[in-house]
Amino acid sequence: MTTITLDKTKRIKTLNHIAEVGLAIFNEEDYTIDNEANDPDAIVVRSYPMHNMAFGGNLKAIARAGAGVNNIPVDTCSNQGIVVFNTPGANANAVKELVLTSIMASSRNLFNGVDWVKDLKGKGEEVPQLVEQGKKQFVGREAKGKKLGVIGLGAIGAMVANDALNLDMDVIGFDPYISVDTAWELSRNIKRAMSLGDVFEQADFITIHVPLTNETAGMLNREAFEQMKPGVHILNFSRGGLVDEDALEVALEKGRVGKYITDFPNDRLLHMENAITLPHLGASTIESEENCARMATRQVRDFLETGNIKNA
Ligand code: MLT
Repeated sequence: MTTITLDKTKRIKTLNHIAEVGLAIFNEEDYTIDNEANDPDAIVVRSYPMHNMAFGGNLKAIARAGAGVNNIPVDTCSNQGIVVFNTPGANANAVKELVLTSIMASSRNLFNGVDWVKDLKGKGEEVPQLVEQGKKQFVGREAKGKKLGVIGLGAIGAMVANDALNLDMDVIGFDPYISVDTAWELSRNIKRAMSLGDVFEQADFITIHVPLTNETAGMLNREAFEQMKPGVHILNFSRGGLVDEDALEVALEKGRVGKYITDFPNDRLLHMENAITLPHLGASTIESEENCARMATRQVRDFLETGNIKNA
């Protein structure tokens, strides 16, 4: 007599570190976290680039523990019937806090000032005097009263806008997917929702919170920089590709853009003093990693259990 054992175990592969509280959702008999699996039922990923990966015939879902899905070949997945989930909003607070920190840090020259003081290492007792002589170069501006232009009024953009009002900033906004009137309705606290051109022309600080798509790629380009107030500070915690980096380099060299603060390292900007690059830290808080992991793993489990697609 032949005994047939049906293997009902669902194998989940993770391609990045995923917070334990999220993985715990899989800790049931039917699920195995198997990061060596060639043909898992589902993949949970953060920023691992998946465009060149071949997917096994068993793969049913990919969940990104984050908002953007541009590290995942979404079209290929759709053609192969693989559902792609993301976790919009789950890391919004973490990103918002870093954006607001960076607005103040850039206007007070904090990043460059800290580097400059570090370079005084070894100057011994001269340090206090050198600091007194040198600190003039880091005199900053206050955020209060300055105009903040928020491009993209989704979960993160709206939170940034609302909290910037508490810093007494004058907040204006634009969203490429919703009309100015709807943006106004959705983000009641934003004083004025206006056209993109108006935001470029009026803002002292511009922060961009739109996904990277064919329509938004290179949205901040030479024409945009030319419309902006000379010396504007630009914050990009969304995706590097939203900015035309050739044009940005020129605008930074000329001082047309006073500072560019980005979460997306790019070798060509690293030598520029007025380009501040963070190592993709926007969503890197314990709280955000846990929120994203929980949301991503629940989506996968519910889908594998019931076929329900929530937020795909
Ligand atoms: C996002 O798209 O939300 C972030 O890239 C998440 C992350 O930092 O992993």
